Amino acid sequence: MKLKKMWRIMLSLCLGLWMISCQQEQTKLTSPDGKLSLEFVLDEEGTPRYCLKHDGKDILLPSRLGLVLKDAPNLLTGFTVKEIKHDSHNEVWQPVWGEEAEIVNHYNELKVCLAEKEALGRELDIVFRLFDDGMGFRYEFPRQEHLQEFLIDDEVTEFVFPSDCDAWSIPVEGVRFYEALFEKKPLSKMGWVSTPVTIETADSLYLAIHEANLTDYAAMNLKPVEQSGDSEAVTLRAALTPWSTGEKVRVADTRVSPWRTMIVAESAGDLLLSRLMLNLNEPCRMEDTSWIQPMRYIGIWWAYHMKHNTWHAGPEHGATTENTMRHIDFAAANNIGGVLVEGWNEDWATWKFSFTKPYADFDIQRITDYGHKKGVALIGHHETGGNVSNYESQMEEGFSFYERYGVHQVKTGYVGDLLDGKERHSSQFGVLHYRKVIEAAARHRICIDNHEPVIPTGLQRTYPNLMTQEGVRGQEWDAWDAGGGNPPSHTVVLPFTRGLAGPMDFTPATFRFVNDVMPKTRVHTTLAKQLALFVVLYSPLQMASDEIENYEANPEPFKFITSCPTDWSRTMVPEARIGSYVTVARRDKGEGCWYVGSITGDEGRTAVINLSFLDTDKKYLATIYRDAPEADYETCPASILMEEREVSSGDTLTIWQARSGGTAIRLCPLEE
Ligand code: NOJ
Repeated sequence: MKLKKMWRIMLSLCLGLWMISCQQEQTKLTSPDGKLSLEFVLDEEGTPRYCLKHDGKDILLPSRLGLVLKDAPNLLTGFTVKEIKHDSHNEVWQPVWGEEAEIVNHYNELKVCLAEKEALGRELDIVFRLFDDGMGFRYEFPRQEHLQEFLIDDEVTEFVFPSDCDAWSIPVEGVRFYEALFEKKPLSKMGWVSTPVTIETADSLYLAIHEANLTDYAAMNLKPVEQSGDSEAVTLRAALTPWSTGEKVRVADTRVSPWRTMIVAESAGDLLLSRLMLNLNEPCRMEDTSWIQPMRYIGIWWAYHMKHNTWHAGPEHGATTENTMRHIDFAAANNIGGVLVEGWNEDWATWKFSFTKPYADFDIQRITDYGHKKGVALIGHHETGGNVSNYESQMEEGFSFYERYGVHQVKTGYVGDLLDGKERHSSQFGVLHYRKVIEAAARHRICIDNHEPVIPTGLQRTYPNLMTQEGVRGQEWDAWDAGGGNPPSHTVVLPFTRGLAGPMDFTPATFRFVNDVMPKTRVHTTLAKQLALFVVLYSPLQMASDEIENYEANPEPFKFITSCPTDWSRTMVPEARIGSYVTVARRDKGEGCWYVGSITGDEGRTAVINLSFLDTDKKYLATIYRDAPEADYETCPASILMEEREVSSGDTLTIWQARSGGTAIRLCPLEE
């Protein structure tokens, strides 16, 4: 009898251990290529944690997951695993426009369904996905009796690094609309920062933390947690943007968080090739996308910054019928798809904007008729001043108005410290408003170029009418920044940081390096670098920002701009070093030509560009725009040389670049 009982105890013990080890196995996940591995664990207090390894080495040590709720018990501890589900997915999809014609979406998934052991027994699911290029995970909030509508006071998502390492980030506080220079600092010394945060580990891995599919939630920012004891580990914790009332997220109908993402790359250049952000967004929801056209554009715009014209009506008004038609003529003659016109509507003098009342000297009917005849689009403009209520009350009419005139692109803007005087741009309030605009614009067959946005999170996969956004310290700072403008290193950091979030309306291609308004402020690059930026900084609506006179004065370099596509079939990064240099090569979608942009930061250097990306069975004509020997961004920025060479895939181009210089190359197959 006694023996039987002992056997039973032994048996149930073994079964228990076996179940624990099975569960441990079940809570592991690997990437399709097996290099990344993730493990989910519940500690003895029932606190959920995950860790991540690359090639068996720790990227993240066990890192906490959970939520602090307002007016309800937290969802942090006391969990048990109710169910574990595994899945995997492998597909190739075609974006409407982008840096690649085809994107591979291949991942393995682990879904952990948690339930509170006691108390309210609430359920919380966490879904992890591992791709070859990184990780995504999100919280899901099943509808249940004790978790209907609720408020999130804090998201306790952590990223615990085994040791400190260098990271590039911008602060949340004191920075408007993400328009700041990225700072390189140890992780532990960053303050409250926006994402993307880009990290170089001691093992020379390159990581970027951000989020995907920000839909009905606050933007995620990060903060290092005060270090305790003598552990070398450094913990970053999510620090969401709050509502003015303090809480971070009001959860009602949307029962999922955005994906928390980490790109894992073995080289700095590979960061730029990750399509994780897009893969973690939902497929296109628009049935007809035929009217969505990537294009180069110019604008009645830089002239405002140079104080040659005014936004408001008056003797120097920029948005006149005649001036717009002059720009349309120039665009038509130079293979430019569109003309942005700001300052066309009442009332820039008071910033009480109407989105349906043009100024008397702006005849939109005549302008759009003329544009259609010439094959040039009018790109509309809605500056809201951050007055969301005023905009939302007119938005439908505003888009209908443009739609009537066949306008398919509108630049929106939110200059103002807070939306409606109280909510931050990156709060859930902002996120919901921007989404409303994208959806309304889609109904009116209008594409959006959004300035002063919440940071992009890959939504262009679902809504390809969201074409480009600012959320970057753009070239306009070189017009009016009291500090002198963007330093040379800015553009060799951006592709590895803000650029990972999505297309940027940086507005490159300034050809005149003199600023009569603020003589100490100007573009700190050479002319060749301005051309190269057209390729390096991706935007499907890419602006050539300068006044047309400055292009007329430089017809040869301008030919690079007027031939450079903004929609690509393939992208490669032959060489890259964050903050020092980057070379990007992109193949067009039709002719089989490649375009290369190569740029440097503070130091001059010789770029070594291996052309192995070219087709091996073809010869190419390389048209090269490069810094002349005397070129220098401070003393001789406009000095540029152009040359042609026959090359093939076995060749390597070695090209000298000045300080903050660059090279732009067009490579087209030669007829046999
Ligand atoms: C700031 C935007 O970034 C700029 O492009 C625009 O011209 C002004 N706001 C006025 O809307």
